[in-house]
Amino acid sequence: MPVVTNIDDLRRIAQRRVAKAISDYVARGSYDEQTLRANRADLEALKFRQRVAIDVDRRSTRATMVGEDVAMPVAIAPVGLTGLNWADGEILGARAAQSFGVPFTLSTMSICSLEDVAGAVSKPFWFQLYVMRDRGFSASLIERAKAARCSALVLTLDLQVQGQRHMDLKNGLTVPPRLTLATLLDVAAKPGWAFNVLTGRRKSFGNLEGRIPDARSLTTLSHWIAGQFDPTLSWKDVEWVRGLWGGRIILKGILDPEDAKIAATTGADAIVVSNHGGRQLDGTISSIRALPEVVQAVGERIEVLFDGGIRSGQDVLRALALGAKGTMIGKSFAWGLGAMGEAGVTKVLEILQKELDVTMALCGLRDVKDASPALLRGA
Ligand SMILES: Cc1cc2nc3c(=O)[nH]c(=O)nc-3n(C[C@H](O)[C@H](O)[C@H](O)COP(=O)(O)O)c2cc1C
Repeated sequence: MPVVTNIDDLRRIAQRRVAKAISDYVARGSYDEQTLRANRADLEALKFRQRVAIDVDRRSTRATMVGEDVAMPVAIAPVGLTGLNWADGEILGARAAQSFGVPFTLSTMSICSLEDVAGAVSKPFWFQLYVMRDRGFSASLIERAKAARCSALVLTLDLQVQGQRHMDLKNGLTVPPRLTLATLLDVAAKPGWAFNVLTGRRKSFGNLEGRIPDARSLTTLSHWIAGQFDPTLSWKDVEWVRGLWGGRIILKGILDPEDAKIAATTGADAIVVSNHGGRQLDGTISSIRALPEVVQAVGERIEVLFDGGIRSGQDVLRALALGAKGTMIGKSFAWGLGAMGEAGVTKVLEILQKELDVTMALCGLRDVKDASPALLRGA
């Protein structure tokens, strides 16, 4: 096993181990992937101010996100099909996050169900909801999230229709799944991955299995889901969800200051500035470019979280410097899991925290809560 020193090492190990259809599903973006690339390029373009001769002996990365104490302001973002990167991946991800002291978000499109995860971990986790055309089913998911004692509901707003990811079509990760010779050969070339995933408690969408009439297999469930994303979703539905849920709510997928202002009037607790990791509207701006405009538009009226392109502790600090109260990681998490299971997720969190801590020191910052634009040149 090579010495793992950064997230990119985990990405390489994961991409060697996991079948191509799944590893492309994780890594790739929609259409020409302009927004996927912009998320990274615009983060890297932000330059820190190197400060010296400031006593940085005692430093802290502790913070709060949506009212919860966290070891560092980094939560695990909802990632569909997590359990196809590593058997029972959602449970392992939740366990690693909880021992580390950061929030874990379970996707509606997870392999392990809400109940599987709730039964396997001791602390509350967050649940991400897609509002489906079948409002009765959405309402039942909210009830199940309550019963699972989830501490926040993450309502995703940027997937009323699905952006096309070319690689998913080429790899046969479609509705219904298309098994080509190439896909089969690739799975055959990854026997360790295939054997591991087959030992998982589930191989299909855990939150949907057994709940949708006549839908037992991954194929029929995928069909059902594809017809269930709801283009009619509106702010009225946000009200409806908030009423049913009654607890802390986070609106995910806000990129425009006008939407952020509306979100701040809904009574939601937080927003996530996000373009779905470059997987939806291709050609829109990076989330880091959107962040300062959104922060300016909402001020202190609603907590602002950020995701899109985070691959290091330096990236976390960049987002905090531009006004995010906390961040979320999608691909970095999936790569850690795909590379080494639970230990890989822990490794991701350790890497990010160490990088964050050292970068704070070299910028002359003792407490992560004091991050401000003054950390950056020209911001
Ligand atoms: C493989 C994959 C699956 C995802 N599935 C979901 C999902 O089910 N629900 C959701 O709200 N966001 C989903 N996202 C988006 C992430 O929650 C997050 O916004 C994004 O990954 C952040 O960008 P990053 O991957 O550069 O960290 C997914 C992202 C990836 C990479």
